Amino acid sequence: MRGLLTMTILNHAVRKVPVLAMPLLMIALLQINSFADQNDKGASAFKGNCASCHGDDGAGTALGKAMQAPDLRSEDVQKQPDAELNKAISEGKNNMPAFKSTLSAEQIQALVKHVRSLGKTKTSQK
Ligand code: HEC
Repeated sequence: MRGLLTMTILNHAVRKVPVLAMPLLMIALLQINSFADQNDKGASAFKGNCASCHGDDGAGTALGKAMQAPDLRSEDVQKQPDAELNKAISEGKNNMPAFKSTLSAEQIQALVKHVRSLGKTKTSQK
């Protein structure tokens, strides 16, 4: 019954919203979703922009290691304050590219959080 009601309301809404506004509405809904989960936002930005060098888990891919990317879970990286990591991501550092022109300040902040969460998943093997 509830599903039917939702469908009816949705149908009604869809008919009222001009066709062109629909994609905008969808984008707005997606935005709300990602605000609700900062961590998820960091994770998806990481996958799209960073994993090619750092790997999904931060350990570093062959490419990243060839460029001397550190294991993001390591003490050397994790001991640095948020501001320092934020700067490395924004401005770049040696072989690490700068991201301030491709990512928003908010996204970079979410990425710092994500790097922290990678640090917490580190196992005892290294
Ligand atoms: C083209 C490969 C490449 C990509 C893409 C890349 N990095 Fe890096 N990253 C590096 C390298 C190389 C270093 C080592 C820099 C150094 O300290 O010399 C590094 C270092 C870092 C560090 C440690 C900085 C420090 O001060 O020790 C962090 C944090 C980091 N990257 C995060 C990211 C994030 C987040 C992204 C995505 C937005 C990203 N990286 C994308 C190659 C990359």
